Amino acid sequence: MNMRTRVPDDLEVWLATNEERALAELFDFLRIPSISAKPEHAGDVRRAALWLADALQRIEFDVEVVSTSGHPVVIAEWRRAPVGAPTVLIYGHYDVQPPEPLDRWTSPPFEPTLRDGMLFARGAVDDKGQLWLHVCALAAHIAVRRTLPVNVIVLAEGEEEVGSRSVIRLIEENAERLRADAIVISDTPMFAPGLPSILASLRGIAYFQVEVGGTAGDLHSGQYGGAVLNPATALARIVSTLHDSDGRVAIPGFYDALRPISIELQASLDALPFDEQLFRANAGAATLAGERGYTTLQRTWVRPTCEVNGMISGYTGTGAKTVIPASAMAKISFRLVPDQAPEEIERLFRHHVEQCAPPGATVRVRMLHGGRPWRVVTDGPLFDAARVALGAAFERIPVVAATGGAIPIVSHLERVIGAPILLMGFGLPSENAHAPDEWISLDNFRRGQRACALLWDLLAVEG
Ligand code: BES
Ligand code: MN
Ligand code: MN
Repeated sequence: MNMRTRVPDDLEVWLATNEERALAELFDFLRIPSISAKPEHAGDVRRAALWLADALQRIEFDVEVVSTSGHPVVIAEWRRAPVGAPTVLIYGHYDVQPPEPLDRWTSPPFEPTLRDGMLFARGAVDDKGQLWLHVCALAAHIAVRRTLPVNVIVLAEGEEEVGSRSVIRLIEENAERLRADAIVISDTPMFAPGLPSILASLRGIAYFQVEVGGTAGDLHSGQYGGAVLNPATALARIVSTLHDSDGRVAIPGFYDALRPISIELQASLDALPFDEQLFRANAGAATLAGERGYTTLQRTWVRPTCEVNGMISGYTGTGAKTVIPASAMAKISFRLVPDQAPEEIERLFRHHVEQCAPPGATVRVRMLHGGRPWRVVTDGPLFDAARVALGAAFERIPVVAATGGAIPIVSHLERVIGAPILLMGFGLPSENAHAPDEWISLDNFRRGQRACALLWDLLAVEG
């Protein structure tokens, strides 16, 4: 096995011949508005689960759609590989983020549209398109060879975008059934166009809602202003204590658990062809900002952060209204790095908010979700096979990269199943995940199918 390995002809031909159908089916998948955050779309989320289950059944998987207290989880199994073959678990999510603001979409979010080799739709890259390319790769093996070289479990959930609560419980309860020798996930971007990437880390997350109350109701700001607490001001004061002037998080103890990154990981990150001006331009920012003393890649990948995701209070309509609002609310989240635990960050954050809340303010902190950070050493047969498969499909030597995003289930899969986890994503940083005009590159969609199809051959050889 070496860098001259090619995608096998039989699989290549099948994938090329069946591409139109694969895309038409992906369009159907993308048309389902499976927005996990919105209760009124719960039926659509279920519909997407059933749609996926049906597609997997058609390629001879044994499929179960498991109901949970949240959205359903799809477990599909194909266990007829030759004796001694390894078992791989493919994880993905079929839920999507809300599409708003709708008026910023060039074509409607749930009407998939092709323009210039780009497929636009909510979920195109995150994660329906990437999940679907796995199904296509599996379909190729089954159609062409009537078998797969490895046993496969597909685990697809509908709550990733809201914290993965149900699937975390489900893997704990089904640890034996989900036992696998390798876990493969495609739900991340490549470092740059044309550059296949294996990820060495994910950040964790701790997400809070902070509600500040002052008075029983809104008050005339002339009658009462100056004599009562203003909750908007109180919340602003709290928010202003979160960072110091160096851009560091100013919550006592916040950095205590940080594990230094290894020399090897730092070296792979340093070797990446990072284009800071392009990053800045993609962000639409005049200048970049962040924690003093760190590079942009360090700030987004291996340093923890605190962000205000939203803040609201009082009168925000047109014109002027003189009022002291009765309450104020902020959504505040932390991105975490090893070994920060969301529960510990919750404890530190609650304590800090209590300490700096002005007298008279009633402050309520609610944790909405949390996920642990994750880091891996990309050595061993799984990563070697991935390098070969990606190299063959993309005709380029893969890099080791990282990302600042979170996939909450990853650390749980590692804990419960104990198998190495390969994050081999086919997105691009510019594909507008979570934003209007989300898209996936058709070229990456195609190459991704081929990389996955070849990976299963290589893992079978590895045994
Ligand atoms: N696919 C993303 C994870 C991701 C995003 C990886 C960006 C790399 C770069 C995933 O669907 C996601 O959006 N995760 C959420 C976490 C969640 C708990 C809402 C995130 O990172 O905000
Ligand atoms: Mn995702
Ligand atoms: Mn996402």
